[in-house]
This record gives sequence, C-alpha cells and structure tokens, in this order.
Amino acid sequence: MSKLNQINTKGIILAGGSGTRLYPISKVYSKQLTLIYDKPLIYYPLSILMLGGIREILIISNKETVPLYQKLFEDGSQIGISIEYRVQDAPNGIAEAFIIGEDFIGNDSVCLVLGDNIFYGNLKFFYNALQQNSGATVFGYQVNDPERYGIVEFGVSNNVISIEEKPEKPKSQYAVPGLYIFDNRVADFAKNLTPSGRGELEITDVIAKYLELGELRCEKIGRGVAWLDTGTPEALLQASNFFGVIEDRQGLKVACIEEIALHKGFINIHDLKNMLDKIPNSLYRNYLNGLLREFREQNLGVIK
Ligand code: TTP
Repeated sequence: MSKLNQINTKGIILAGGSGTRLYPISKVYSKQLTLIYDKPLIYYPLSILMLGGIREILIISNKETVPLYQKLFEDGSQIGISIEYRVQDAPNGIAEAFIIGEDFIGNDSVCLVLGDNIFYGNLKFFYNALQQNSGATVFGYQVNDPERYGIVEFGVSNNVISIEEKPEKPKSQYAVPGLYIFDNRVADFAKNLTPSGRGELEITDVIAKYLELGELRCEKIGRGVAWLDTGTPEALLQASNFFGVIEDRQGLKVACIEEIALHKGFINIHDLKNMLDKIPNSLYRNYLNGLLREFREQNLGVIK
C-alpha cells in the first residue's frame, strides 16, 4: 500500500454491542449491517475514517459478526486500505476497544469511531483534529436530550471543565459523539480502568484521564454538520430518509467507499474498473460505472 495520502493515525471501528433497542433483529443480526437507505450502516463511519486519510483500520465486533464483515470488506485492499478484524467477546464497554486493539495501535495515535455513528456535512472539524499528534481530542455536539449522552462542560475559554456519562442534571447541551482521537497512551489508560456500575469500561473514564492530565481538547461541531445516532428503529428510519432525500436530490452517493477511495487517490480508475467486473448488476454498480465514465471524460486517468 502506498503511503500517499496516509496519516500516522490508525482507525478503529467498534461495531459489536448488544443492540438491545433493535430487538428482535438484534437477536440474529448486527445493527451495523442494517441498511441505511442503500448501504450498510458501517459504511458511514468507515467513510469518515477514509475521508480523514486513515488507511489502516481495525474492525472489532462479536464472533458471529466478524466473519460477515470479513466477507463484506475482505482485507480492504480493493479500496486501497488495510482492514484487520478482532473479536470482542462481550459488550464490555467502548474503552475495551483499546485493549483489544493495543498491538494494532502500536506506536501510532488512534481514531475510534463507533459503528453506529454517522456524520454528514463539512468535516473540517475532524480534519483539523487529526493534525494534532498528542493528547486527546473529542468533539461536542449540541443536542436537545443531553441526559442520553456523555456530556462535556466548557469553561469561559472553551476549555473542558468536566465530562459526565448520562448525567441526570446535565451541565451543558454538548454531547460527545462516538468519534475520538487519542495518542498511543490510550491502551495503557484503558487497561487501568475499573468497570463502571453498569459493568463496562467507560470511554468517559478514558477521556477524564486526559482531562486530569490537562491534555484533553474538545472541539465544538457546528450546527451545519449532522450527527446521527442510529440505536433505535425510529433513528434508523430517520437516517435512511435523510440520506434518501440527499442522494435522490443530488444524484451523488453519501459514504460510497469506492468513490472516496478514488477521490483520495487510494485506488485508480484501473482498480475501479477491475472491481466493477465483480459487482453484480445493481444501482450501486451503475453509480460506480458513472464515476468511471466521469473520470475518463475528465481525463483524470488513462483507461482502455
Ligand atoms: P451502545 O449504543 O452503547 O449500545 P448497543 O449498540 O449495544 O445498543 P443498545 O444500547 O440498544 O443495547 O453502543 C454504541 C456503539 O458501540 C455500537 O456501535 C455498539 C458498540 N459497542 C461495542 O461494540 N462494544 C461495546 O462493548 C459497547 C458498549 C458498544
């Protein structure tokens, strides 16, 4: 894999969990494989990592679902990235991802995205954060139901004062979305956590550790960005409708990983053409075919 367009941050997608709120489908199937309009939910968080230039990715899920992800993405080379897989035996908490992924993270920093979190809009907030190479960066997004999330409290100069998981009396309206960037001390910090009252290794406790050290940044995400959380049937439907409207209006796909790979220079049009030969006749294939034609017409590459 060429180092072109690559940054020294690895990506982890945490895509296990119990999916209790999606029962009965969650009894047999993974939430992150359910359809959001025209593609599996996990395509959306994967596309965010790719847009950030992250090309080494670890997908963590339960043992039943890992083989399905492997079938879907293989080793990632067809889209110019590398994808590894690991099993989380039980939903022991988000922070366990760093313990499971410790050897994968190695000496690099790491960006963790939850497999059911979707971001849409201007991603400058994320690209800027990826430029930092020490400490931790989390984000703050204004919500109208702060009791449901990890909530960050800001001081006068936008410094972080506190972070609390699902507070009864929230100190702000700013929720911390499931997208975090940590330096490589994160695995050690995670290993030293004790499980919370609900028996989980809490991501909030990892973030609090960086806060305690004075090495936590929290960037506010503006209202022009949509952060969609897809834990309930209603939220899945809303997200499908949202992307259905946008894709239909623009004729462009959101989170089309092959298109992102092409635009980022992870693959070229020869790679895309080879890939197309293996994709069955479908609207998705038609879209990729259109991209190929467009790239040819613009002479962005030579293809026979
Ligand atoms: P949650 O929303 O906390 O939980 P969940 O997906 O299990 O669903 P429910 O609350 O309905 O039971 O999880 C957020 C994301 O993190 C989701 O993509 C699942 C993932 N996750 C894991 O993979 N392992 C874990 O141990 C936890 C807590 C979450």
